[in-house]
Amino acid sequence: MDQERWTAVDDYFGSVLALDDAALDGALASSRDAGLPEIQVAPNQGRLLHLLARAMGAKRILEIGTLGGYSAIWLARALPEGGRLVTLEAEPKHAEVAKANLARAHVAHLVEIRVGPALETLPGLVAEGAGPFDLVFVDADKPSLPEYLEWSLRLARPGTMLVFDNVVRKGGILDEASTDAAVRGTRRLFERLAAEPRLRATALQTVGTKGWDGLAFALVTG
Ligand code: SAH
Ligand code: DHB
Ligand code: MG
Repeated sequence: MDQERWTAVDDYFGSVLALDDAALDGALASSRDAGLPEIQVAPNQGRLLHLLARAMGAKRILEIGTLGGYSAIWLARALPEGGRLVTLEAEPKHAEVAKANLARAHVAHLVEIRVGPALETLPGLVAEGAGPFDLVFVDADKPSLPEYLEWSLRLARPGTMLVFDNVVRKGGILDEASTDAAVRGTRRLFERLAAEPRLRATALQTVGTKGWDGLAFALVTG
């Protein structure tokens, strides 16, 4: 009952705000056809990432967790000409689907997909001096969230915004004794966000098509 109403409200936002278009719908359809898990951000969340990137004037964006490129399309569309989105994906098959979806959305020239476990590709970005990134969207495996925070900080500057998806997981986050690696990773992320003097963080719970979940935001202030 609640889920039905949450979904109906997301559907209403989608239609009244015209959150979908052919390229985004096409990316969802091709991801589904390829058998990818349907866990991309919702359209209103994609638009939120897009607006945040535009409001910040982001020219360099890092994404950890590409899947079929749905959130990457939203982020890439916020970039100016000459801007760059680097998105990291462990699964070659996901990266292939994303590559085609980004091309169909006419943003492929703005996006570089790096294939491999992010903990293996992030050091290369640091070594190359690929940063600083203006915005980082962390949406891959949850046990590694604390490590992704550390790498993000190495690739950031004061003013960089870090965004973390799936930080609530139906309230699973409350279980301090959890043996679930995702819950433990997320709780460790929050402890690190709170303890890090270079960051000011907040988090929001969300309900909608993706159930009960949430997003955390951390601004690099120093
Ligand atoms: N941001 C996407 C959804 C990402 S889903 C969107 O909203 O459209 C999470 C993705 O992270 C999956 O494609 C998964 O294969 C990838 N992933 C999981 N573990 C990873 C790792 N260690 N390194 C990089 N990517 C990983
Ligand atoms: C899962 C991962 C996600 O990034 C998400 O947004 C929803 C679900 C998952 O692994 O189940
Ligand atoms: Mg997610």
